[in-house]
Amino acid sequence: MNNITILKEETINIPPEYKKERPPFPKRAKIEITNRCDLKCYCCQHTYYSGKHQDIDKDFLFRIIKELKELHVEQLGLFWMGEPLLVRELPEYIAFSKEVGIRYVFITTNGRLATPDKMGKLFESGLDSVKFSINADCRENYIKTCGVDAFDQVISNLKETKRLRGNNNAPKIYASSVFDPNDEGHYDRIHDLILPYVDQHYPLRIWGKRKIVKQNNEYQIVDLPAEEGRSLESMLPCWPLFTEPHINCDGYMSACYCDLDENFFMGDLRKMSLMEAWHSDKYVALRKKHLSKDVTGCVCESCAIFA
Ligand SMILES: C[S@@+](CC[C@H](N)C(=O)[O-])C[C@H]1O[C@@H](n2cnc3c(N)ncnc32)[C@H](O)[C@@H]1O
Ligand code: SF4
Ligand code: SF4
Repeated sequence: MNNITILKEETINIPPEYKKERPPFPKRAKIEITNRCDLKCYCCQHTYYSGKHQDIDKDFLFRIIKELKELHVEQLGLFWMGEPLLVRELPEYIAFSKEVGIRYVFITTNGRLATPDKMGKLFESGLDSVKFSINADCRENYIKTCGVDAFDQVISNLKETKRLRGNNNAPKIYASSVFDPNDEGHYDRIHDLILPYVDQHYPLRIWGKRKIVKQNNEYQIVDLPAEEGRSLESMLPCWPLFTEPHINCDGYMSACYCDLDENFFMGDLRKMSLMEAWHSDKYVALRKKHLSKDVTGCVCESCAIFA
């Protein structure tokens, strides 16, 4: 059950009972506790976001966590776009989620701030898993990929996190790396470097139209050739609409997992319940388009995966 790639597959491969205009409320959700970030990854939509940066309101967050429990949500990610370790109250938020009865609470972090002191507090609060996002294989590549000189710090933090856990079985320590199918060597180099320190390391197929390549001995960000992209049709129906609500720090439920555009907001949770947003007219209409595998004229027509 705690195998992260199985959890991911269960979310991305929409089960038949969820492939509906009004699906049941999913067993898994993500809440963005902040949309602030300390990196500027070239591949991430967050880097190009020009709206306001803020942390979630604590009373709102606690109301939503209780509501998620009432809806039988079992897995809760306390992050979305942004870096969760920037939030001082994160241990309190994890502890609250566990007290309420959420079975599995997890985070994904860029790892820059994952010092033993911070991770110790997260471990004590009841965190079930932490995933480190390591998208570069060396310091030079990391600076180009993430905009900050933090590779050595991240790797050191990962090693220390493993040491801190010792022989315990929990929390699980995972890592992912953005994967360019035309540069498997890059993924393999990261894999060899970090495997001793993680329970699992897995690839994330890159979204967006840019990728990083080494040219003339220097790392360059280049446009992804059209033939290397995916077709929009192959992605439909798209999983977050059916299996994982994404709640942003401003209180909206978004249909998309990788685009911050407000056109993806399906309901304002400060004014309605989670279930009302999940079954809102706007959401039902968008799911209908996805189920017909034709998103012409709706917000997904210019899918962020290809933007
Ligand atoms: C948006 S980040 C938020 C959490 C945290 N800041 C981090 O970097 O882990 C969530 C995940 O999205 C991944 N990601 C960012 N840009 C991506 C892209 N273009 N394609 C695939 N995954 C991407 C990150 O590597 C990370 O694992
Ligand atoms: S991938 Fe994570 S660390 Fe990088 S810019 Fe996006 S939110 Fe920040
Ligand atoms: S924009 Fe693309 S990734 Fe986002 S929900 Fe629509 S189809 Fe999915």
